[in-house]
Amino acid sequence: MILILDFGSQYTQLIARRIREQNVYCEIQPCNINLSVIKSFKAEGIILSGGPSSVLGELSPTIDKQILEWGIPILGICYGQQLIASLLGGEVQNSDQSEYGRTEITFEKESPFFAEIPTNESLTVWMSHGDLVTSIPDGFQILATSDNSPFAAIADPDKKIFGIQFHPEVTHTSYGMQILKNFVFNICECKADWDMAAFLETKINEIKTQVGDEKVICGLSGGVDSSVVAVLLHKAIGDNLTCVFVNNGLLRKGEADRVIDLFTKHYKINLVYVDATDTFLGKLEGISDPEQKRKIIGNEFIGIFDQESAKLEDIKFLAQGTLYPDVIESESFKGPSAVIKSHHNVGGLPENMKMSLVEPLRELFKDEVRELGKTLGIDDELVYRHPFPGPGLGIRILGEISREKIAVLQEADHIVMQEIKAAGWYRKVWQSFAVLLPIKSVGVMGDARTYDWTIAIRCVNSTDAMTADWVQLPYDLLGKISNRIINEVKKINRVVYDITSKPPGTIEWE
Ligand code: XMP
Repeated sequence: MILILDFGSQYTQLIARRIREQNVYCEIQPCNINLSVIKSFKAEGIILSGGPSSVLGELSPTIDKQILEWGIPILGICYGQQLIASLLGGEVQNSDQSEYGRTEITFEKESPFFAEIPTNESLTVWMSHGDLVTSIPDGFQILATSDNSPFAAIADPDKKIFGIQFHPEVTHTSYGMQILKNFVFNICECKADWDMAAFLETKINEIKTQVGDEKVICGLSGGVDSSVVAVLLHKAIGDNLTCVFVNNGLLRKGEADRVIDLFTKHYKINLVYVDATDTFLGKLEGISDPEQKRKIIGNEFIGIFDQESAKLEDIKFLAQGTLYPDVIESESFKGPSAVIKSHHNVGGLPENMKMSLVEPLRELFKDEVRELGKTLGIDDELVYRHPFPGPGLGIRILGEISREKIAVLQEADHIVMQEIKAAGWYRKVWQSFAVLLPIKSVGVMGDARTYDWTIAIRCVNSTDAMTADWVQLPYDLLGKISNRIINEVKKINRVVYDITSKPPGTIEWE
């Protein structure tokens, strides 16, 4: 295992991804955890990430110097390198020749750290720094230089401490992956033995140990994360798991039946199904403000979930599909003055909740959850499902919601799904769906005037939903979707395609 100590770099998650891609487990922790906690991870190596601070600042984040003395291999990247240099007696200065973007480095010395890299020519790397190391500590050697950084890569080979000014984790650095591989395998001597089957086995044992013979409740939405959690828990604890599935009346066409069938008939999981359509739609009546709609739907869900779990006796644990990015978001290091927030779950559960949490996906990224789902034997249809927001169609019907509008949107959305799948685009995009714009425009159908609503089609690509690009779907596919919606869905006489990326748009319309 490799442990990353995070100093707040925007690239820290990327380093973890790159290492896991090598089948080596990797975890990110805030830089200020203490030495005994660091040792408890029993890592083969430590990476000190980059970060926005300057080691020259008074309150700059640091580490216990003993980490550098206990003999574990260490790689410092950017801020991490500057920290190593300053802690061990080198010097760091603020440079008036800061480097941002692509830079060439040239190699000064052979090292297993640069194995399998053509070191007889210069290499393009990605730099992003204001400070730089200007003198290196005793015992260190120069491995590479750039025009502005005399110490672009340094090492104390005896202590296995390495420092680089550039970012190997970004794709702009040539051979960046090879550099990380060299550190992980040549220097730390890790074995590439982390894969989903191994993870699954460990997880099942962990869940059994954590939960014992106690009962667990799990909210099921029909999406990938909660489904994987449910199937995984069921494998670990069988009938001690009960899932609760709340139908808020804002689901996709046929979704409630699909979820009930799959989990009761196929997986034979204890399922409490609550059709709360009337309650939700009653509370939403007359409400058109997006934030108010979201709040009502969220609060109502928590209320119903609480009510149902209170009916079940002796439930000690609540399972949920918290993912690694959520954990990092709330735990990662935010800079010298900021308090490190403790993780609180994303669902907004009550503060006084008496159940303990089971979060078996909290080490995984979204695509790893999909891989785990496949390892568990879950159908591709479910594993590759597009994300669907908690408030569902409620935030895809602009303004006030009504049963009629829900029915219209469900039909239009169903056509979008069918056609995107039939054309082979479903797995190529992050999300695709229909939005109902309940504004009326004039049209003509069969010689008669129409005056009806509009459907917008949204189809985006993204890696993390933080940014997104609209997808250039083929015109004939868009044409087919449009024709079908107008011909088959009553109340719709116009279809438009949303060509807004995020930013400035968001993925959902509300
Ligand atoms: P936006 O609209 O903010 O959406 O660009 C980013 C991603 O998050 C999903 N989304 C939600 N997911 N509860 C969820 O579970 C929500 O309230 C929610 N709102 C947006 C959205 O579908 C997209 O994938």
